Amino acid sequence: MKRIGVFTSGGDAPGMNACIRAVVRGACYHGIEVYGIRRGYSGMIAGDLYKMESHSVSNIVQRGGTILKSARSKEFMTPEGRKTAYDNLQAAGIEGLVAIGGNGTFTGAMIFGNEYGIPTVGAPGTIDNDLYGTDYTIGFDTAVNTALDAIDRIRDTASSHDRIFFIEVMGRDSGYIAVQSGIAGGAELVMVPEVLTPISEVVETLKQGWSRSKSSSIIIVAEGDDEGSAQEVAEKIKGQVDENADIRVTTLGHTQRGGPPSAYDRILASRLGLGALEGLIGGQKNVMAGIINNDLVYTPFEDTIRLPKPINEDLLRMVKILSV
Ligand code: F6P
Repeated sequence: MKRIGVFTSGGDAPGMNACIRAVVRGACYHGIEVYGIRRGYSGMIAGDLYKMESHSVSNIVQRGGTILKSARSKEFMTPEGRKTAYDNLQAAGIEGLVAIGGNGTFTGAMIFGNEYGIPTVGAPGTIDNDLYGTDYTIGFDTAVNTALDAIDRIRDTASSHDRIFFIEVMGRDSGYIAVQSGIAGGAELVMVPEVLTPISEVVETLKQGWSRSKSSSIIIVAEGDDEGSAQEVAEKIKGQVDENADIRVTTLGHTQRGGPPSAYDRILASRLGLGALEGLIGGQKNVMAGIINNDLVYTPFEDTIRLPKPINEDLLRMVKILSV
């Protein structure tokens, strides 16, 4: 393999730059040319590629976002779009790809690989930590710490005003960010899509706290929870805890996607970037590089996409025990 392409796709995640750096510097080390593809599959279709050198990735290990930019391409979902992308890669002499992204990215890579045979190895980059085949995804740790910082700040004001706060965190259909930031932030309850928490349980938890003179409470709601958004959950419990209960809602949103990556994410991204590259050189294709129990493993895209990554329900139980 003489020339490869690297791209980031889907929602950006802190640490993607550290991953790009590992791919580019690893390629230089192994004597392989590397092209950066801007805006993921959209750039592949537009032919937006440029040759990267070691210096192209100087000073980015500490930066959030992605220097290659990212997008969710609707055109790549069509056979015509993929044909154009393939023609562009052929014209540029690209023989293999490293794809940094999440579920949607790997679904695209798998279909593309099956149609045109271009080998692709993925590196899991998403704050959601929803990919089977790796203990953690790039960006998750930073997102948890960002959410935690906000939760700590909200705790101060919640306690000063004796208020109940509902805080919504990201994760799409996954409750990982909610569980981890909830435990670390001492939340009274964590609501996640994987486990049904009925409104009656939320009311009961808050009532019990109220009866023990607990004046402030924090409930973390993962986006995608069955009971709705944090705002909707707050509406549903209104008037059921105590008539004097003062309720506020905060949605953390895209703050969780930005900012400098944590040390953990920089190291994880470096390992996975190099792991993906060396897997590609070694003949791996249509797989995602992941770290399980500190070992580098490759999992077929098909499994990373299809298989669920269950939440540890013991952690949810712990939230309830520790928040009393
Ligand atoms: O997948 C990452 C993520 O931030 C999810 O947690 C969230 O549901 C989604 O992306 C938001 O997407 P967008 O940036 O397109 O609004």
